[in-house]
Amino acid sequence: MRKLNNILITGGAGFIGVNFIRYLLGESKQKSGFNGRIINLDALTYAGNIASLNEVEKKYTNGNYFFIHGDICVRSLIEEIFDKYDIDTIVHFAAESHVDRSILGPEAFIKTNFNGTFTLLDVARSRWKERDDTLFHHVSTDEVYGSLGETGYFTENTPYDPRSPYSASKAASDHLVMSYYHTFNLPITLSNCSNNYGPYQFPEKLIPLMINNMLEGKPLPVYGDGKNIRDWLYVEDHNIAVWEIMQKGRAGEKYNIGGENEWENIKLLDKLIDIVAEKSKTAPDKIRATITYVKDRAGHDRRYAIDCTKIKNELKWKQTVDFETGLKKTVDWYLSNSNWINQIKSGEYQKWIDKNYIKR
Ligand code: NAD
Ligand code: TYD
Repeated sequence: MRKLNNILITGGAGFIGVNFIRYLLGESKQKSGFNGRIINLDALTYAGNIASLNEVEKKYTNGNYFFIHGDICVRSLIEEIFDKYDIDTIVHFAAESHVDRSILGPEAFIKTNFNGTFTLLDVARSRWKERDDTLFHHVSTDEVYGSLGETGYFTENTPYDPRSPYSASKAASDHLVMSYYHTFNLPITLSNCSNNYGPYQFPEKLIPLMINNMLEGKPLPVYGDGKNIRDWLYVEDHNIAVWEIMQKGRAGEKYNIGGENEWENIKLLDKLIDIVAEKSKTAPDKIRATITYVKDRAGHDRRYAIDCTKIKNELKWKQTVDFETGLKKTVDWYLSNSNWINQIKSGEYQKWIDKNYIKR
């Protein structure tokens, strides 16, 4: 088992990164067994919210957590962080992550997802030349594999066939990560995960967007015929898998992670409506009446489904949160964290960042 001491986490103020840091340092940190240092580097784009970690930082950290407001594309900053904190591990979450935004403006996706990944890899290569105790874990998506028909699953050997600027930028970064392993012997691991859901997800992705629109009585926009299929996984189960791979995964290997939990969007919405209706004491039919079919997303992938046999067999990982429980926990979280949503949606949060943090 690898001993990971000084971990640079990129994108640790985003949805999955916040949950990852909470897993390693928060209330249930004994589950992970981590006792090193975390250096969280995040540019705090519209999707990052560093306030999500205030409680963890105050209650549970003790000189073992550092936040740096900065961009993964700035080489001199990455070099400085490596030297100052003696980084031996990177877990790379930072990305532009929303498909719809990549259709409206692909450039930021190429900059962060491709150029940013390159910068991190290249600094790691230069700084880790003489070491044999290092690891670069790259967090990626199942969307790199393209779109499935009614049958079949993505395995680790499925050829890449990305179809949105988002998935193309992630696919390109995956290839670069693999090339650094084969060409320069940089110790890497890579994971491709299906759709995540849970607390702290920015309300532009399907599940939090729908929950929040339901709570605000707004229309529920369903793209196309609503029959596109996604494979949903609770965010903590994704993070446990990432942590297992970082500790025990073989260098140079990629691992698929998935929920084995496929849902047509419209059926998922139906389930979510029942949960929100019950918890917010609203008539389900009143919410159902707000479902609005809208123009389909350009290049909308029809179906994603992951075969995660490899990680199950090799690392003994498995999902621990069933969909019903995960959705209920998620709805409860959004119901009791309306401040978080209001801050992040209103732009108040960005003003607070500009006042309190200098970006590097
Ligand atoms: P997110 O959009 O919620 O968070 C991304 C974080 O990266 C934000 O905090 C943002 O400020 C930061 N960031 C963006 N550009 C940056 C830059 N140039 N420098 C430093 N920080 C920057 O994304 P997420 O949903 O937490 O996804 C995290 C990772 O997991 C991504 O790489 C994504 O591709 C991958 N992934 C996500 C899902 C999912 O369902 N959300 C599924 C599989 C894989
Ligand atoms: P999303 O959460 O954007 O994740 P991804 O596209 O990366 O899988 O979308 C999940 C599914 O929900 C996808 O098929 C598009 C659909 N969708 C809607 O129907 N309406 C919406 O408002 C959004 C955001 C997504």
